[in-house]
Amino acid sequence: SNPSLLILPGDGIGPEVMAEVRRVIDWFGDKRGLKFDVSEDLVGGSAYDAHGTPLTDETMAKAQEVDAVLLGAVGGPKYDVLDFSVKPERGLLRLRKEMDLYANLRPAQCFDALADFSSLKKDVVAGLDIVIVRELTSGIYFGEPRGIIEEGNERVGINTQRYTESEIDRVARSAFELAMRRGKKLCSMEKANVMESGILWREVVTEVGKEYPEVELSHMYADAGAMQLCRWPKQFDVIVTDNLFGDLLSDAAAMLTGSLGMLPSASLGAPMANGRPKALYEPVHGSAPDIAGQGKANPIACILSFAMALRYSFDKGDEATRLEQAIENVLAKGYRTADLLGEEGKQPVSTSEMGTAILEALDES
Ligand code: NAI
Ligand code: MG
Repeated sequence: SNPSLLILPGDGIGPEVMAEVRRVIDWFGDKRGLKFDVSEDLVGGSAYDAHGTPLTDETMAKAQEVDAVLLGAVGGPKYDVLDFSVKPERGLLRLRKEMDLYANLRPAQCFDALADFSSLKKDVVAGLDIVIVRELTSGIYFGEPRGIIEEGNERVGINTQRYTESEIDRVARSAFELAMRRGKKLCSMEKANVMESGILWREVVTEVGKEYPEVELSHMYADAGAMQLCRWPKQFDVIVTDNLFGDLLSDAAAMLTGSLGMLPSASLGAPMANGRPKALYEPVHGSAPDIAGQGKANPIACILSFAMALRYSFDKGDEATRLEQAIENVLAKGYRTADLLGEEGKQPVSTSEMGTAILEALDES
């Protein structure tokens, strides 16, 4: 049977960018014989509108069964008044939690045609292609004890950085596996100089590394890593780090390359029966209510998220590269959605025009 894909377009620009991904998926079916069993469902505000919950149990069950989930974005001002328990983002959080997606892959990839658009010098970012693996389900955002307590005559805010060996082990494994498929270089970042969890992190990553002798493993304090990431990011291939440092480092790395409209992500969990990890692919951006419904959204982040699915869930790295190259070619020809124009004052293309241009570039590939 064909590999299965659950599509959750979500809210705001989610359905608009996902419509272009659907055209790309159809292209791979028609022209490359890559057929998927695609099903589509609601998540976020749209699910709340239809069912009174941002993710139904049926959709949750389906997400657990398929080979990969592709999500657009959730949220919007219309839903800001809702009770916390049914807010759109709860749908996304439930997916991540119940699928136990502990490894968040955030590529920072600079397409040559956009190197001028970055806030850094062109030679620092041109050709950049790195991936940050952020631990997503543990660490200081979840550790107990937490809370605001009274102590003496003042209040104290408490969060706890806590990592078990097995939590470090499994995310390290994801990062080493990724490094094996790429440049075979992994840099682990923590603060072993001042944090106990950092000492354990470094020990466990080093231990897992013995199973991957081909991967060149290095360690860096996360603050030094932040500097190196801005100074000369091309020194890295894969970076693995905890939830907190990964949150900051991946957002910083993202801005090396330009627009939110270009950034894909993958969240991976434990291997399934077929050996592939549980997986949710989604653009980094949100539902962009300021431009929703106007045909202005850049569909590339979501299309690149599908490229990641091709590579990591369907073992079609060559086809993923074909798709990325088509995007590079379209950008080189000068196609720009509004978010990629800055102050240039040129005429932007619409969401669907960008989609059409990518299909044409695929036809030429
Ligand atoms: P956002 O990412 O939706 O938008 C930030 C800015 O970037 C806006 O000016 C937007 O127009 C622009 N932008 C984002 N994606 C774009 C694209 N593909 N093409 C062109 N321009 C793009 O973040 P914001 O405004 O903070 O949040 C809006 C809503 O999205 C909120 O309800 C928020 O909770 C939700 N959100 C959802 C996420 C998700 O589903 N994973 C992630 C972040 C925010
Ligand atoms: Mg963040």
